[in-house]
Amino acid sequence: MPTETERPSSAAPTYDLAAYRARIPLLTSLIPMNNCSQAPQTDVTRAAAERYLDSWNQSGMDWDAWVEEVQLAKGEFARIINASADEIAVFSSVSEATSAVASTIDFAGNRNKVVVTEAEFPTIGHVWLAQERRGARVNWIPVRDGMIAPDSYHAVVDERTAIVSACHGYYLNGFTQDLARIAERAHAAGALLYVDAYQTLGSVPVDVRATGADFLAAGNLKYLMGIPGIAFLYVRRELIEQLHPLMTGWFGRSNPFAFQVKQLDWSATASRFDSGTPPVINAYVARAGMAIINEIGVGDIRRWLEVLGQRLIDGGRERGLTLHGTPDVSHKTASTAFVVDDSHAVELLMRRRGIVPSARGPVIRLAPHFYSTIADVDTALDVLASVVGAR
Ligand SMILES: Cc1ncc(COP(=O)(O)O)c(C=O)c1O
Repeated sequence: MPTETERPSSAAPTYDLAAYRARIPLLTSLIPMNNCSQAPQTDVTRAAAERYLDSWNQSGMDWDAWVEEVQLAKGEFARIINASADEIAVFSSVSEATSAVASTIDFAGNRNKVVVTEAEFPTIGHVWLAQERRGARVNWIPVRDGMIAPDSYHAVVDERTAIVSACHGYYLNGFTQDLARIAERAHAAGALLYVDAYQTLGSVPVDVRATGADFLAAGNLKYLMGIPGIAFLYVRRELIEQLHPLMTGWFGRSNPFAFQVKQLDWSATASRFDSGTPPVINAYVARAGMAIINEIGVGDIRRWLEVLGQRLIDGGRERGLTLHGTPDVSHKTASTAFVVDDSHAVELLMRRRGIVPSARGPVIRLAPHFYSTIADVDTALDVLASVVGAR
C-alpha cells in the first residue's frame, strides 16, 4: 500500500507525468482515450523499431541478436506478471496462444468440459467452440448487467471440467474478475485456469503466483504500449513438462538449431509453445513498450488510473451519460464505457474534435493510460456529451 505521501492526489500521479507526456508525440495533436484498443507510439517504441531496421540494414542478418531480443521481450513480459522468462512463450496473437493451449488438452475422456465466460473477447469463444470437433463441451458463465457474479462459477465448474477460460477484464465495459477466486474454484474441481489478461496488463497489477492461474495470455498493443503481431503466454512452471501442443515448430525444440528433422523433442521451458520464426521487429517494440510500464510500475499506474476512472464515472453521471457495467472503480480496468446509439458514428465525430475514443458495439469506451491528465478526461467527456446531445 502506498503511504499517504505516495498516494496520488486528485491532481497528479506519483511519477513525473509531464516527462512521460513529452515522450508521446501524438499528444501534441490529439487526446488518445483508446488504450483499450491501441496505445500511442512513444519515443522508445519508435527507436526500438528503428534499432531492428538499422541492424538489418547494417549487418544484413543478425539472428543471434534478433532471437536474443525475443528472449528479452519474454523477460520484460515476465516482470509485469511476476513470472520468469522460461515460463513465457511467444505468439503472434492471443488467438494463437489460446489455440495452442487448447491443443494440449485431451477432450476424449470424461473430463471434456470447457467453462468459458460470455465476457470473453469473441476470439476466445471461437477457439473453445472449435474444440468441440475434438470432443470438448463448451459451457458458458453468463454476463448479467455487464458483470459476472463471482459465485456463478460454482454451479458450472465440476469434476468433468478440463479448463476454465476467464478474462481478467471485460473488453466491452472494463469489468474485472477476481482471478484468485476463480483459480481456487477451478483447482478445487481439478480443472485448469486459462486467463486472457489483454485488457488489464500494464494498467492493473497481476501476479500470476498470487492468482494461481495456470495459463495467462496477452498481446501488446493495448496498455502494454506495443504493436500488433506479438502476444505472450505464461505457462505455470509445474505444468510445462506435461504439455505437448499440437501446434508446434522448430522453436519449440530443446535446441532449435540442432536441425534434427526426425526428432520431436520438447523444450523444458515454456518455449515448447513457440512454433516457427518469431515476430522479431514486434519483439523489439514490445520490449520497449513493456519496459516503460515496468519503469513506472503498474501499481503507481493503477493508482492514477483509479483517480481518472472515478472522474470518468462521476463526470459521465453529471453530464447525463449512461454507464455500461459496474460503477465500482475497484472492479474496473482503465476503460469506462458509455451506451450510445451509433458508436462508430460517435467515434468519428469525436475524432474530428481531437479525441480518440474506442467504439465497440453499443458503447463508446474512454480508456486513459498513465500519461493521461484530468483535463484529458474532462475534455473527452465534454466532447462525448456534446456529440451525443447533438445527434
Ligand atoms: C480481451 C481481448 N482478448 C483478445 C483480443 C484479441 O486478440 P488477438 O487479436 O491477439 O487474437 C482482444 C482485442 O483485440 C481483447 O480485448
